[in-house]
Amino acid sequence: MSEKRDFLAIADFSAAELWRMLERALDLKRQWTTYRRNPPLLAGKALGMVFQKPSLRTRVSFEMAMQHLGGYAFYLGPQEIGLGKREAISDVARVLAGYVDAIMARVFDHEHVVELARWAEVPVINGLSDYNHPCQAMADVLTMYEHFGHVEDLRIVFVGDGNNVAVSLMHAAAKLGAHFTWVGPQGYEPPADAVAQARAFAAESGSEIRLLHDPHEAVRDADVIYTDTWVSMGQEEEAQKRMQVFPPYQVNADLVARAKPTAIVMHCLPAHRGYEITDEVMDGPQSVVFQQAHNRLHAQKGILVEVLR
Ligand code: CP
Ligand code: NVA
Repeated sequence: MSEKRDFLAIADFSAAELWRMLERALDLKRQWTTYRRNPPLLAGKALGMVFQKPSLRTRVSFEMAMQHLGGYAFYLGPQEIGLGKREAISDVARVLAGYVDAIMARVFDHEHVVELARWAEVPVINGLSDYNHPCQAMADVLTMYEHFGHVEDLRIVFVGDGNNVAVSLMHAAAKLGAHFTWVGPQGYEPPADAVAQARAFAAESGSEIRLLHDPHEAVRDADVIYTDTWVSMGQEEEAQKRMQVFPPYQVNADLVARAKPTAIVMHCLPAHRGYEITDEVMDGPQSVVFQQAHNRLHAQKGILVEVLR
């Protein structure tokens, strides 16, 4: 039996492996949009989905992706299993792995999804942790590829908090040869270890990683302007402080006008309209946020087929 393959971080995969998943996703998307059918690649396979936090996109897209591929998925909410509270993570992992073929988990502490993977005999997919959000980054680069026809050499500018979404996007960009700029307030940079890793990947792919504080300078020449909430799940206590420091980093019409006229605007959603992004931009002609959200379904298929077959 070959060793199981978890999907915990973009950093764990080579560019070739990421492209294999993306190509599979594109292929399955083409089939799905043309015929409303996919081959039953995951017939008889079950995915257990463990959520410690709310979700719309991740939950529904994984569930539908499994169904389209002939498999089955079920949801376990925070009240049901009490990961690490009602029962030790190592015990949850070993029990659940006896019932299902793969586990998807959305957690607070990144170490918890790592621990699940350590103990589960089946592959574990990270559906977001406080540190990263690799499934989101796959849908993001898929959307960029569809729009521009390439990912290499794109100038991606993430505006706002150096959070979980920023980390995975930065790593995906660096692996696939896109230039990545983070711009936001001092003290809210992506974690230093994640930046160092990104720089190492970028040295190999020939891309550039920049951390800036001036939004106007950052978006000059941008192909992609990307933003996310200023207050991530679990940071509610910091909301008041964050609301004071982030407003200069709002993605509004003025900021977008400073990028290339061909630039697209992205957001992982859920969006806080009027805060990190204005209605005008979110609903404007450069926004691809709903295509991006729908691509979660297709990207998920590429990931699931990779880890489950
Ligand atoms: N973007 C994203 O992961 O959305 P959900 O929190 O709704 O899953
Ligand atoms: N950074 C956000 C992403 C939500 C999909 C959060 O963690 O709440």
